[in-house]
Amino acid sequence: MSVEVEPKPVGRKPLQWFDVRGRRVGMWAYVAMRLSAIGLVLYLFLHLVILSQLAVGPSAWDGFVALAKSPAFLALDVILIVGILAHGLNGLRLTLVGLGIGVPRHKTMLWIGLVLTLALALLSALAIFAAEG
Ligand code: HEM
Repeated sequence: MSVEVEPKPVGRKPLQWFDVRGRRVGMWAYVAMRLSAIGLVLYLFLHLVILSQLAVGPSAWDGFVALAKSPAFLALDVILIVGILAHGLNGLRLTLVGLGIGVPRHKTMLWIGLVLTLALALLSALAIFAAEG
């Protein structure tokens, strides 16, 4: 009688992509890209849910606007901007490299994207808190 042996599962564990310990900077960029992508998709749904308050009526919307002006909410706006910039600029880099443009300079482009993300996010934070603070 032959005994059937289940084949061992091959491949990586589900959340192994998240583990950047001892990995190079490109892997950090990959994880940042994926986390920002998940954050942006979640934000898109949250945005639609919040907009649906408009259908509830003026008082529901005014309540949300008051909440949106609180410092904690403004800080979330800044986090959103960081996510958009990091994802968008790294996405641009990946697109260029995928098209064969600037391949030897891909790491320089990564650092430029990071500096631009931090600089533009800082400017945005100053503008947001100056307007609403
Ligand atoms: C600013 C413009 C954007 C650019 C240039 C861009 C570019 C890219 C690129 C090149 C990838 C592939 C990354 C890879 O090969 O590892 C990607 C992945 C992805 N992006 Fe974007 N993206 C942008 C905005 C967005 C927005 C607004 C969302 C969500 C609402 C989004 C959601 C995603 C998702 C879900 C993935 C898959 C991530 C993964 O599986 O690891 N992206 N994006």
